[in-house]
Amino acid sequence: MHTKDFLSIADLSSTDLQLLLAEAVDLKARGWNSALRDKTLALVFEKPSLRTRVSFEIAMRQSGGQALYLSPAEVGLGKRESVADVARVLSRYVDIIAVRTFSQQTLEELGNYADIPVINALSDEEHPCQALADLLTIFEHKGTLKGLTLAFIGDGNNVAASLVLSCGLAGMNFKIASPAGYELNSTIVERAKIMAETSGAEIMCDHDPYRAVQGADIVYTDTWTSMGQEAENITRLKDFAMYQVDSALMALADREAIFMHCLPAHRGQEVSEEVIESRASVIFDQAENRMHAQKAVLIQLLGGAGILPSYR
Ligand code: CP
Ligand code: NVA
Repeated sequence: MHTKDFLSIADLSSTDLQLLLAEAVDLKARGWNSALRDKTLALVFEKPSLRTRVSFEIAMRQSGGQALYLSPAEVGLGKRESVADVARVLSRYVDIIAVRTFSQQTLEELGNYADIPVINALSDEEHPCQALADLLTIFEHKGTLKGLTLAFIGDGNNVAASLVLSCGLAGMNFKIASPAGYELNSTIVERAKIMAETSGAEIMCDHDPYRAVQGADIVYTDTWTSMGQEAENITRLKDFAMYQVDSALMALADREAIFMHCLPAHRGQEVSEEVIESRASVIFDQAENRMHAQKAVLIQLLGGAGILPSYR
């Protein structure tokens, strides 16, 4: 990778993306390896997590390294201690940091002050590790990325933002249907459109879920209320009521369409029980692939494929 940190999908070139996905496929086949022997990852989390925490910890362990989890109550980023000091202190102890926080600015400040790589493990703006695992999952199920169409139904949130950028980079068409007032950040959409011009993808933002899902190869949704927005939950339940991914909506997608969700899911809200439990649903492949994709990111940021043992 050509950057010190991985804070956004926009940090990647299309070559970086191809390399990370190819390495993730290879690492998945290898299982345990010793590329990260003697390396320590600090996980600094200001929000809850199941997948991200566990997949990073196990990715380190399966690659010969170790991980240290620091919970929201412990570090107090910018409260107990300044972000700049936390970055410089951790740089003296560990080799790499993954941070789950609220503002993208906190991540950027950490990256600027840390001598070591910083990974975005979810912010209000983006969830790039999720998007990488999602592309790996799509590739496994469809055998290709370029030319496919992903329809995202629901909130124009962090997960949608990393997906639109990923689609722009990978040459996949992206169609989003969100209620008025919950659209994707226009700066991110513009950035994705610039990438799409090079890759040959089409980016479309809409309010109509039926139009967005028409003929799609992938139908994706996420929670209507992200972490940190809990006070808006009741309003959001009303505003998103027409945006559930149910069997009627899936019927408009391609016959071979897969259903995706980053999890945690809310059955009966953004997705029906029938769809999430259907054969089209690949949600647990996505969850597993978090670990494989993150191994590739960790190895790239800590020295590249050169540190991978060449035997299997
Ligand atoms: N998808 C995802 O990031 O899950 P967690 O919030 O459980 O880490
Ligand atoms: N959009 C969700 C994703 C959770 C993995 C959130 O930010 O809470």
